[in-house]
Amino acid sequence: MLKDRLGRPLRDLRISVTDRCNFRCTYCMPKEIFDRHYRFLGRDKLLSFEEIARLARLFVRLGVHKIRLTGGEPLMRKELEQLIGMLAAIPGIDLSMTTNGSFPLQRVRTLKNAGLQRMTISLDALDNRVFQAMNDVDFSVERVLDWIDACGEVGFGAVKVNMVVKRGVNESEILPMARYFKGRGHILRFIEFMDVGHSNGWQLAQVVPAGEIVERVHADMPIVPAESNYRGEVAQRWRYLDGGGEIGVIASVTQAFCSDCSRMRLSADGSLYTCLFATRGHDLRSLLRDGATDETLLQAITAIWQKRTDRYSEIRSEATVPLHKIEMSYIGG
Ligand code: GTP
Ligand code: 5AD
Ligand code: SF4
Ligand code: SF4
Repeated sequence: MLKDRLGRPLRDLRISVTDRCNFRCTYCMPKEIFDRHYRFLGRDKLLSFEEIARLARLFVRLGVHKIRLTGGEPLMRKELEQLIGMLAAIPGIDLSMTTNGSFPLQRVRTLKNAGLQRMTISLDALDNRVFQAMNDVDFSVERVLDWIDACGEVGFGAVKVNMVVKRGVNESEILPMARYFKGRGHILRFIEFMDVGHSNGWQLAQVVPAGEIVERVHADMPIVPAESNYRGEVAQRWRYLDGGGEIGVIASVTQAFCSDCSRMRLSADGSLYTCLFATRGHDLRSLLRDGATDETLLQAITAIWQKRTDRYSEIRSEATVPLHKIEMSYIGG
């Protein structure tokens, strides 16, 4: 099995299909930067669906069994269902997508029919004022809730709902969100605000530690820790004592989980990153377009993984925060 320098296997591939998004979440794509100075990728820079699918098949040969489509907002990429169909045809993979749930509801069905297996939806608040201040494009909560309901209707089963928690911004929404999703069969995950990229003005004081989130939920609706589903699971699971389902916390700042990190990230323009907080990637697009054989590509990916030593969240400090890190909208959440 392919292992990196810290003995970690390669299991997950996260594919960003576009760096664009119709939202401007303040913690991810702040308007002042993304509407003024940011240069989005041109079409010719994007990997084609055929190129993505070819790489995905090679990654699977190297041990990847989970593939997640991300962005930006993946549904900004035209005819995404075509790509999903191509990836779903690869035997034995778990195929999921992270979306903001803002597109017309009929897409939920077309995505399911194309072969998407699991859906994760970002939603940061139930109160429209709070949510709109965070997405910064006046998008309403109701439409995202409708998308989540539609996921149930077409047979996606339990969906995961990601809520980034920012001190003083949406911490008041922790309990309302927990109460709303309890007993509905979905899994709400609270994510610590991270210093990903270099444009979101991150400060440690804006992080609400996962421990505090757990305490607040527990005080209102008792929860107990639940076993991880698999080694290296990003979220810590907590189960409601009364059988109302589970929640998760993703504590990348206060309880780093690098020691089990088995993820690679492929950007929309074909660069490969070995960490969410990387400052540089490895250009696979040039190799692809220069006519590399499968063997050459496999060797290149193997060499990149074998050299990997990343553990950013474990070594985060005053000195690492200002690094010129890649934006999350580009590298994929
Ligand atoms: P499944 O277990 O496959 O359902 O997915 P997941 O738990 O990995 O969830 P998801 O991919 O939705 O990740 C949730 C969030 O965790 C992301 O949006 C990121 O904010 C954060 N995250 C995911 N992977 C990493 C990682 O490698 N490092 C850090 N620091 N954060 C991560
Ligand atoms: N900190 C934590 N999570 C983030 N996401 C985007 N930016 C950040 C950040 N700075 C999350 C979103 C979404 C996923 C794509 O990444 O909430 O669920
Ligand atoms: Fe778009 Fe998701 Fe970033 Fe929000 S967090 S701006 S929805 S990519
Ligand atoms: Fe993996 Fe980097 Fe996140 Fe650590 S900080 S869990 S190495 S992606």
